[in-house]
Amino acid sequence: MKPTNPPKTYRVKSFGCQMNVYDGERMAELLGERGITPAPEGEEADLVVLNTCHIREKAAEKVYSDIGRLVKAGEERGQKPMIAVAGCVAQAEGEEIMARAPAVSMVVGPQAYHRLPEMLDKAVQGERATDTDMPAIAKFGALPARRKIGPAAFLTVQEGCDKFCTYCVVPYTRGAEISRPFSDLVGETQRLVEAGAREITLLGQNVNAWSGEDDKGRAVGLAGLIRALAAIDGLERLRYTTSHPADMDDALIAAHGEVAKLMPYLHLPVQSGNDRVLKAMNRSHTAESYLRLLERFRAARPDIALSGDFIVGFPGETEAEFEDTLKLVDEVRYAQAYSFKYSPRPGTPAATMEGQIAPEVMDERLQRLLASLNRDQLAFNQASIGRTCQVLVERKGKHAGQWLGKSPWLQSVWFEADAAIGDLVEVELAEAGPNSLRGIVRATVAA
Ligand code: 5AD
Ligand code: SF4
Repeated sequence: MKPTNPPKTYRVKSFGCQMNVYDGERMAELLGERGITPAPEGEEADLVVLNTCHIREKAAEKVYSDIGRLVKAGEERGQKPMIAVAGCVAQAEGEEIMARAPAVSMVVGPQAYHRLPEMLDKAVQGERATDTDMPAIAKFGALPARRKIGPAAFLTVQEGCDKFCTYCVVPYTRGAEISRPFSDLVGETQRLVEAGAREITLLGQNVNAWSGEDDKGRAVGLAGLIRALAAIDGLERLRYTTSHPADMDDALIAAHGEVAKLMPYLHLPVQSGNDRVLKAMNRSHTAESYLRLLERFRAARPDIALSGDFIVGFPGETEAEFEDTLKLVDEVRYAQAYSFKYSPRPGTPAATMEGQIAPEVMDERLQRLLASLNRDQLAFNQASIGRTCQVLVERKGKHAGQWLGKSPWLQSVWFEADAAIGDLVEVELAEAGPNSLRGIVRATVAA
């Protein structure tokens, strides 16, 4: 590649999970440190970072078509953008991307993106660079302090996965489970709060596998971390996502009943309601053990909003096995959940299993599952009517004087009032739709 001028503007496009959103923000901060500014809305950027997701569907194809589109737009304006591919597709298919897409000058995996500035220097010299090392924790120490932060911020506390569910690429793209040290997380949370965060969502592929040593040298799990963070003045709310049933402990369940700042919401993927399918998925729990676990959360925090993930059409799933999933849904009555059609991921054991399910069967099962989940989501929202709760204002609504935020149960709530982003407003929930509720303001809680 030819040497080029250093980019002045950037755009980071993040796909997939919240961890990718977090990584994308951190890459933007790294570029900001270099004096590169976000490209104005509607304008092409000099540097585009495609922060990719590999979990489902034709992720790689999408990357190539995005690259094609960027190159074409660049040709039209007479200046091709510099392109970096980051995230899990970069990790899984880095070399192939370099070989197939000459327009890409940087490929950087999720554990290596702190090295983006060095790679950028090389790219400006005309050298293409790939970095898909997995040095685990090194990245966090090398990232700049966070300055611009909204009222609801993400904080990665744990990364990677050792569970090896047979359908999933994450253990291969994000590597082994690691926990960031306790003191780093307390320090970073304090700085996030000073920068304006009032709610923090602790992120991890298996966040409840987080473990560490507290300031007194005691071994603590996620509940211990949550209690320490809840003691920070100015932080009003804590959430965590995503959890695995196998890593749940009594301390975390108890924290839901005892730590007022810990919001009454739990995202606990189950994937299927059938034990044979769960075993073939290598999930290490049964439908029954999962239901018992949820009962314990409900006992600790009766109003807890439950969420989960589902996969329909796992290889070999019969109609009767799928119906077990519907039965489980009927029993749990989720407040909200995510459901996906099984997508074979190259290199995972399930991709070569017998009994791959026809697309039309998957479509039909997904529709039935969605119908049940939507029914329950609406019912949960309707059951909230009349409750008074705090809403953290995150943004303006469509119309003047309208504000949007989240209830403790992670519902989107809109209301009309004289408010500002970052306010905690006490509202009565007055009207419920499938995806949001209307609130009536009762009071603004002092900042
Ligand atoms: N196909 C479909 N869904 C998947 N998930 C993970 N891997 C696959 C796959 N190969 C879903 C699981 C997981 C969520 C993040 O994505 O439900 O919990
Ligand atoms: Fe993937 Fe299973 Fe790990 Fe979740 S627990 S990231 S589904 S392997």
